[in-house]
Amino acid sequence: MPLLAHARKNLCRGHLLRYTLPLMLLLFLTVGLKHLAIDCNQRDNNEIPIGTCMASYYMALNLSAPGEKNCHRIIQGDMEEVRRALIDNLVAKKKRVIMTDESFINATSDCKLFRQRRKYVMFSLSKEEQDFPIAYSMVIHDNIEMFERLLRAIYTPHNIYCVHMDKKSPESFHQAVRAITSCFGNVFVASKLVNVVYASWRRVQADLNCMEDLLQSKVPWKYLINTCGTDFPIKTNAEMVKALKSLNGHNSMESEIPPNHKKRRWEYHFELKEDSNNIVLTNTRKKPSPLPVPVFSGNAYIVVTRNFVNALFVNPTVRSFITWAKDTYSPDEYLWATLNRFAEMPGYMPAHQKYDTSDINAIARLVKWESLEGDMSKGAPYIPCSGTHRRTVCVYGTGDLNWLLQQHHLFANKFDPKVDNNVIQCLEEYLRYKSFHQTEKLL
Ligand SMILES: *[C@@H]1O[C@H](CO)[C@@H](O)[C@H](O)[C@H]1NC(C)=O
Ligand SMILES: *[C@@H]1O[C@H](CO)[C@@H](O)[C@H](O)[C@H]1NC(C)=O
Repeated sequence: MPLLAHARKNLCRGHLLRYTLPLMLLLFLTVGLKHLAIDCNQRDNNEIPIGTCMASYYMALNLSAPGEKNCHRIIQGDMEEVRRALIDNLVAKKKRVIMTDESFINATSDCKLFRQRRKYVMFSLSKEEQDFPIAYSMVIHDNIEMFERLLRAIYTPHNIYCVHMDKKSPESFHQAVRAITSCFGNVFVASKLVNVVYASWRRVQADLNCMEDLLQSKVPWKYLINTCGTDFPIKTNAEMVKALKSLNGHNSMESEIPPNHKKRRWEYHFELKEDSNNIVLTNTRKKPSPLPVPVFSGNAYIVVTRNFVNALFVNPTVRSFITWAKDTYSPDEYLWATLNRFAEMPGYMPAHQKYDTSDINAIARLVKWESLEGDMSKGAPYIPCSGTHRRTVCVYGTGDLNWLLQQHHLFANKFDPKVDNNVIQCLEEYLRYKSFHQTEKLL
């Protein structure tokens, strides 16, 4: 009896091992593999991918820089590699094919193919980012290639992007911008376009037009960032979300006591000459600003809360300040800086000088001014520009990359593929790598 029972038990175990286990294993494998195959397929929806799929998505969506250069070593500050890239740039610059308005109009005739070929990331990379949408006001007037590369670098399906293109830009540029924006449900052209005149009120109006449209959108964005066509991010979307959260509801922008030579810009009435697209000083003195705080000096690029943007359209004192500013010189360089010191503005900083913020201390925009470049061991804020200068501002070259990526700013200015395309390609590679590899660690 015990012998028989033992034999039957053995038989059962044998059965189990010989038939049931392999069957279960097979079932498990087919179901499991099918699951993996489904989940790691690239998709055009807004589901966050599971961690195990990240590597396979990255393989398909990486923006590895073409050519011989080693971006990793350039970013590490390897001077030999930087020198090689700078020499390569001189050669590559002459051979480079510039993407035209027409080529984008053509390439976007099939949107799905366009998004695929240009490797847009059409899903959110984390819940934290998805729960913290950002609104962009992008004010541009030329260089369609740079606009598209900037859009691709900051694009995520849960953010919202408004593009203001200069009304007087060529028709082909307008068509190309509309063609690109039409490929994304969350990217749109401002409902009102203005003819932007350098240093005039219209530069501010372009941003205000986008801001007004963005407030109407259903996306519950938390912060607004404005950009121009020569900006490029130096942080991933996840890093930006982290930085914005740590502002604790404050805005971040340059805002300092203005130098004396700038004060005439708002103490006198300026006139816009439509025929020459110029603005000229008159000798009519203006009344003081209606705000209870002095005018502060800053720049056109800001990081502000949604409530700040909303107040621009509803606060009566702010409305009268905006009207007052319309006939001044370059209001973009003091309007935001001043409003950010007015106690009725959400996220403001008190007007006391202890709250003065330089462009270096704000996170909005990193700029290398030619006049401040120098020897850091002797107190200069930064080393000389490795590219060229335009309007006394550095257009970055490969040798600036190591420094750029050590700064806390969300964006840097200026970039131009005609000056140095390697630096932009390396940023594209680096940011895409980082957004697929560090999202969880960062948040
Ligand atoms: C990057 O993408 C290309 C296809 O565009 C692919 O052949 C390559 O293996 C990818 N590289 C990495 C490191 O994933
Ligand atoms: C337009 O795109 C198609 C493929 O999508 C290509 O064959 C054609 O040469 C392009 N035309 C121009 C003018 O770029």
